[in-house]
Amino acid sequence: MTTRHLIGLLLGTEDDWPTAFTEILGRLGPVPGPGGSQHAFDTERITIEPFSLRDRPRYDLVIDRLAYWYYHPREWLKKVSLMDGVYLLNSPFTFQSMEKHAAYCAMMRLGLKVPETVLVPYKNPLDNSRYAYTAARYNKSFDLDAIAEKIGYPIFMKPYDGGAWRGVSRINTPAELHAAYDASGEMLMHLQKAVDYDVFARSLSIGAETLVMRFQPDQPMHSRYAVDHSFLSPQVGTEVVTIGRLVNAFFRWEFNSCETLVSGDQVYPIDYANACPDVALTSLHYYFPWAMKALVKWCVFALVTGRRARLDLETDRFFTVADEPGLSYDDKLAVYGDLADAYFDTARYYDFWSGLQPRLDEVVLDWIAGPDFDQLLVRTVRSVYPEHEQDQFIAHLRGLMELWVREETARLCTNP
Ligand SMILES: Nc1ncnc2c1ncn2[C@@H]1O[C@H](COP(=O)(O)OP(=O)(O)OP(=O)(O)O)[C@@H](O)[C@H]1O
Ligand SMILES: [Mg+2]
Repeated sequence: MTTRHLIGLLLGTEDDWPTAFTEILGRLGPVPGPGGSQHAFDTERITIEPFSLRDRPRYDLVIDRLAYWYYHPREWLKKVSLMDGVYLLNSPFTFQSMEKHAAYCAMMRLGLKVPETVLVPYKNPLDNSRYAYTAARYNKSFDLDAIAEKIGYPIFMKPYDGGAWRGVSRINTPAELHAAYDASGEMLMHLQKAVDYDVFARSLSIGAETLVMRFQPDQPMHSRYAVDHSFLSPQVGTEVVTIGRLVNAFFRWEFNSCETLVSGDQVYPIDYANACPDVALTSLHYYFPWAMKALVKWCVFALVTGRRARLDLETDRFFTVADEPGLSYDDKLAVYGDLADAYFDTARYYDFWSGLQPRLDEVVLDWIAGPDFDQLLVRTVRSVYPEHEQDQFIAHLRGLMELWVREETARLCTNP
């Protein structure tokens, strides 16, 4: 008997990864499950429409890329999560901690090396007559210069809930500090000690898997992710992966990207909450096949094994470790890693995929090397770049994907 699972895609403007995801899942075909069962997967793009709160959804799992911004689909997700047990990547119940601020607090509590950070009140009162009264009466005046002196220049000023560099500035002097604060207007800002770093490690986590990439934030979008296989020492690499998995397990984030600044052998987390991490073909390029495989693998694993979504955070399991006096930072990270493995059911996940992995690898290599993928590549570039840049970017992206195909072919030959 074959069980069919319907995966809903709740999408904004993206077309690249949903096409890739659907294509790979279709080519993979049915997958065996426990007790001789067979499982098949369909995908569907979800439309936004009125719903009765008692309606039964047709979806077993939803990948959401929209509800962080739009409330109608967000409330629909809450309904299907609470009432119907639909598995979500990510659950809107975790959005409350999707601002950087909550992640900083959690990580500091867990003993991680978040740079010194201060939240300052709004520069301008919100446009609300009652707020003006409240602010006039209760906002305590404060000495911005003294706060900055205490943190020590240079400082980053950035929104507590930021994304896409909006309102981010690097500040070297008191004059710049005041100019940036005046310009912040109605944005709520953190002041954070700047880290003088050697490498910027950006990790993408999908379920039980995490990939760490070398990130170059000062480069244009298409070359921010550098193809570099050994830019971190094994020890630092493990630490970066563990921190990412810890934060994701702590907040129940299934699909997230995380940023750490690495200076020598010290790892400083600076940005750890992303409801809708970038998985665009044009930015991930060489790493796009990894992301698509991990997404397919996690969805299939969750559905076939009947994984249940957890709404409770059970923070005490982590805090008990954080509060243990005899444990060093490294000891704590090791225990956090075990807790994350338990949450993501990592051993079972790899066990589940061990027999199927060669088939998935072959399917993805075959697709990426073939004409259908090339058409998607061309279509994606045409939708992202202005006409006069399209040929250049098609060639650039093709070059990177050819590199992936060559390396992947060699890998599968030596390691079939
Ligand atoms: N404490 C810090 N030390 C050094 N650089 C920092 C620090 N905080 C932020 N930056 C730099 O500023 C950039 C933007 O900061 P941050 O990631 O917090 O904001 P964001 O709006 O989430 O940006 P993005 O969407 O690019 O991730 C970082 O990618 C990094 O280059
Ligand atoms: Mg960031």
